[in-house]
Amino acid sequence: MAIKLLFTAADPAVPGDGVPYLKNSKEWQANIAPYKSNDRQPARLRLLQVDIAVRDARNDDVTGWLFGTFVCNGNKPGATPFDRLAPVGLMWGDSPGFTPADLSAGGTPPQQWINTQVGTYQHLGWADRINGPVDNPASSCMSCHGGGAEPPLKTPIIPKSTLSDQEKLKWFENIEAGVARDAGSISLDDSLQLAVGLRNWKSYAQGQGADLKALAGDDAEELLNRGIEARDD
Ligand code: HEC
Repeated sequence: MAIKLLFTAADPAVPGDGVPYLKNSKEWQANIAPYKSNDRQPARLRLLQVDIAVRDARNDDVTGWLFGTFVCNGNKPGATPFDRLAPVGLMWGDSPGFTPADLSAGGTPPQQWINTQVGTYQHLGWADRINGPVDNPASSCMSCHGGGAEPPLKTPIIPKSTLSDQEKLKWFENIEAGVARDAGSISLDDSLQLAVGLRNWKSYAQGQGADLKALAGDDAEELLNRGIEARDD
């Protein structure tokens, strides 16, 4: 099981920030920098979203994983900020084949449950698949995470907007636990944190002039080949 807490610098007291539902959210001080800068300053952040991924063999026939998320809703009754988290929904499969046309025709992605009573702005992904309030709307939890593999990824994690809906369906297939999306890639079993960690480690080690061969022995060549690709989200 993995749990990810997502914080934001957006402020419920500032109308233009558009987050009135984050009132009374969990606050933490963090040492943050503006995007693409390393000029860090302590700032107050608020808990916005809590993502949960669970490996469960009872779902092996579909993907072997469950992905669900919670959003903070300051209007929900509850004694602590964690009591005031509202479930957004849960997916056990990526509803292969389901397109925006199916949605327009009145259908819903079959391999998920969405909480229609969430009480905050509901921000879903492609063809109303589940994703979190700050996730990319062209995707879904499993479309980004399914087939998570070591960088460099042969397929980018988000489909290009210029592709047709039929072409985009490649990103919404059910991929078994422990299997990478592309043949020849090494699976990290749905963990994108490990993928980012490997990429950052390589970049750090190279910046330090580290002798990767001494660190990695015979695998050095393979480690060096774990390229650095841009994040799309
Ligand atoms: C646009 C792509 C994208 C979408 C959509 C997405 N994630 Fe992630 N997720 C990532 C990336 C990249 C990371 C690793 C880096 C980070 O944590 O920021 C990550 C990290 C995580 C982690 C930490 C564990 C790990 O190793 O990956 C969890 C748990 C998680 N996401 C759950 C979810 C859930 C649940 C959803 C849907 C509600 C979701 N994610 C949607 C890209 C995405």
